[in-house]
Amino acid sequence: MSEFSERRAPSEPETRRDFLYFVTGGAAIVATGAAVWPLVNSMNPSADISAQAVVDIDLEGVGPGTRITVKWKGKPIFIDHRTKERIALAKAEDDALMIDPQPDTERVQRPEWLVVVGVCTHLGCIPLGQGGSEPTGDWDGWFCPCHGSHYDTSGRIRKGPAPRNLDLPPYEFVTDTRLKIG
Ligand code: FES
Repeated sequence: MSEFSERRAPSEPETRRDFLYFVTGGAAIVATGAAVWPLVNSMNPSADISAQAVVDIDLEGVGPGTRITVKWKGKPIFIDHRTKERIALAKAEDDALMIDPQPDTERVQRPEWLVVVGVCTHLGCIPLGQGGSEPTGDWDGWFCPCHGSHYDTSGRIRKGPAPRNLDLPPYEFVTDTRLKIG
């Protein structure tokens, strides 16, 4: 269960910005380019995993508390528009005993946006927590049910067999509402 899939109109050409995602946890709309594909919350393997090296994401409309998933180099990227509560929780835990200690400030460029690779660092499952009804683990981050790893609101591993925090992809904010990954 190391990859995820998406559905799209079969005839639409894929461009650098025509990729996506599934949006969860609210009514946010994320669209990059003209194509908007149906929301999918599936982890089934896909035969057309994209290997795009750079993707642009329009964050306009992704409100606080919303988590979205985009695809980059065939991997799910979790983008969490963190609420004040989740930011505070992440900072409050900075000094806690951790498997892979790292302050929250080293994991975000902007406190309200957490961007992590959505692949469990144990054996590569996709953790739950992106969907509004999915379990978020004991630290309100993500939960990997494969072997019981819990990640916090900074994507740090807090309990379970995963050896390190969720990885951070290279990214930059092109504008306040536009993110470039890769
Ligand atoms: Fe996530 Fe094993 S793959 S806990």
